[in-house]
Amino acid sequence: MAEQSSDRARREQRVTDQVVASFETTDNDRFSEVMQALVRNLHAFVRETRLTEEEWNAAIEFLTAAGHITTDTRQEFVLLSDVLGISMLTVAVNEPDLGDVTESTVLGPFFVQGAPEIPLGGDIVKGATGEPSWVYGTVTDTDGQPVPGARIEVWEADDDGMYDVQHEDGALAGRAHLFSDHEGRYRFWGLTPTPYPIPDDGPVGRLLRRAGRSPMRAPHLHFMVTAPGFRPLTTHIFVSGGPYLDSDSVFGVKESLIRTFERHPAGTPAPDGLRQERPWTSARFDIVLGKA
Ligand code: BEZ
Ligand code: FE
Repeated sequence: MAEQSSDRARREQRVTDQVVASFETTDNDRFSEVMQALVRNLHAFVRETRLTEEEWNAAIEFLTAAGHITTDTRQEFVLLSDVLGISMLTVAVNEPDLGDVTESTVLGPFFVQGAPEIPLGGDIVKGATGEPSWVYGTVTDTDGQPVPGARIEVWEADDDGMYDVQHEDGALAGRAHLFSDHEGRYRFWGLTPTPYPIPDDGPVGRLLRRAGRSPMRAPHLHFMVTAPGFRPLTTHIFVSGGPYLDSDSVFGVKESLIRTFERHPAGTPAPDGLRQERPWTSARFDIVLGKA
């Protein structure tokens, strides 16, 4: 009996060894390294779970459904990576060791190239619905020196939990870019972030329901900050006290990115002199970039 099971183990290992060996000599060492590790780890998963053929079939059907629902504007594979924590683990593995640099988090599927430029103090809202929020801060290096001219891309969902690209009209709203001034300062009007579900009408949504997991994301505002000579930063800020901070469906929350969105009653003059007729909030986010 013991001999039979060691025969079985040898047979199984032989498959793995053959496949690993098939990637030994490619024209790219990194490709070989990644593919061999992928094969070793996937085979270990099959051995550990004693994967059945029905389960293998279910996995193929799942991936096929993910492929069918994926379009230019709906990326189910990124979503799968997000809910499995692969996106955040990749972020963690690539995070620099520079202690003071602002932490990164997931990009998500709703970033759009070519969002309009707004002036400092401008409005990214452009018809998106929600509570106005004055967002401001500085961009500095790790010595506290200002980074002028940093390009700051910002995007967020409206208070229905929808990004502009999810609306049929195709109009850009709730997104823009601006540049930090000569002292590294920036400011703009956005919306107080509200919670929303990640797209859950496809196979990833079914996976979450099967696991009894919520699709909700903690309220957040996305930033992507770039400046010559610095590492690009992709991050969000989260609303202190907001829901789902402990159960964000894509594991994106980091303590250092939680910010107070201070509440102001209707009629309180804003820092730019604007008198909002509705209640509004303000949030400060000072960004520290690491050298490239
Ligand atoms: C987002 O924050 O926009 C997002 C991130 C991951 C998956 C879905 C949405
Ligand atoms: Fe988002």
